[in-house]
Amino acid sequence: MTYSHSDRDLIRKSLSQFSFFRNFEQKMLYFKEGASKFVQKRKCIYRLFPGLLSSDIAVLQGIAKNGKKVALISLGCGNADRDFELLEASELSNIDYYGIDSSAGMIKFGEEVFKKSKLSSHFLCQDFSSSDMKEWQEDCLSQYDRRIYAFFGNTFGNVPQSHMADLLRNMLKPGDVLWIDMAQREDTTPEGDGQLFEKYLQRLEPGQQRDFLLYPLQFIGIKEKDIELQIEMKKESSVGALLFNYCVAFQKKIELEVDGELLTFLPEDVIDILQIRIYDEKKFIRFFEEHSFTYLPSGDTSSIELKDERYFIVSRRPVIKMGKN
Ligand SMILES: C[S@@+](CC[C@H](N)C(=O)[O-])C[C@H]1O[C@@H](n2cnc3c(N)ncnc32)[C@H](O)[C@@H]1O
Repeated sequence: MTYSHSDRDLIRKSLSQFSFFRNFEQKMLYFKEGASKFVQKRKCIYRLFPGLLSSDIAVLQGIAKNGKKVALISLGCGNADRDFELLEASELSNIDYYGIDSSAGMIKFGEEVFKKSKLSSHFLCQDFSSSDMKEWQEDCLSQYDRRIYAFFGNTFGNVPQSHMADLLRNMLKPGDVLWIDMAQREDTTPEGDGQLFEKYLQRLEPGQQRDFLLYPLQFIGIKEKDIELQIEMKKESSVGALLFNYCVAFQKKIELEVDGELLTFLPEDVIDILQIRIYDEKKFIRFFEEHSFTYLPSGDTSSIELKDERYFIVSRRPVIKMGKN
């Protein structure tokens, strides 16, 4: 079975899902030129938060030191520059790196970044939310005595929460580590919510992230003049998130051919483009605990102090089968 797919396969599947659900999955933002649009505007997080690299190194060293052979699997690795910098700076020789991304463009960028080093690296063009992932890890990762699944860059906050948490529960084995980098809400008051809303609203302005957000529409041939780009804020209490949903409302009836099918959009139709979640840490931890994960505030067995509270580790614990004895 091959687990790495071509651009064409993943794009076709996404377009057929779009025709059915009439919503974009966040991965469409990064297809084709979307990858370079994102990379051009982006700065590695270690440049934005000085001090973060040293806390990440401490976390990685703490988790990896107890494993003879460790796999770091970066889900939605993007151009993998952060992952590369972290591995190089950690100087650990027992880690193999796996970068997974649904964008072939991102995979190319990632391979280019890792070319410079002697680190053991593998890149896979794959949808991390597909059921193939479970089979892939059983076929390819069973020789490791510790696996670290990482969601860097708040990527977990962009995808459907229960679906992804269920998939991780089914895929990870006891002892595997899930390292989620998520954006945290410091101020949970209505004023704090309002300030966050203003921040994400600004991204709709030309010259901010408007072009990037509109890219999936351009990809399927919807013109900017026929839609209005909007943002809505909702609460997702079960995961403790404030959700910012970027969506477009149609201004008039349009007909469009997508992947060989004729689709009609009416003026009242709204389609979602991107969801960003900002979390209340305690509720988010509780959500994962309800999915059979244990929170490890200091990264497993060592006494690491996480200096930047944006990061935390959850580790998979065995699922207790009800009614077994
Ligand atoms: C916000 S970027 C983060 C990239 C990187 N981890 C970082 O920290 O800069 C999200 C990445 O996840 C990828 N992605 C989104 N949905 C995906 C999916 N379902 N399967 C695999 N990759 C996905 C995108 O292509 C993109 O490269």
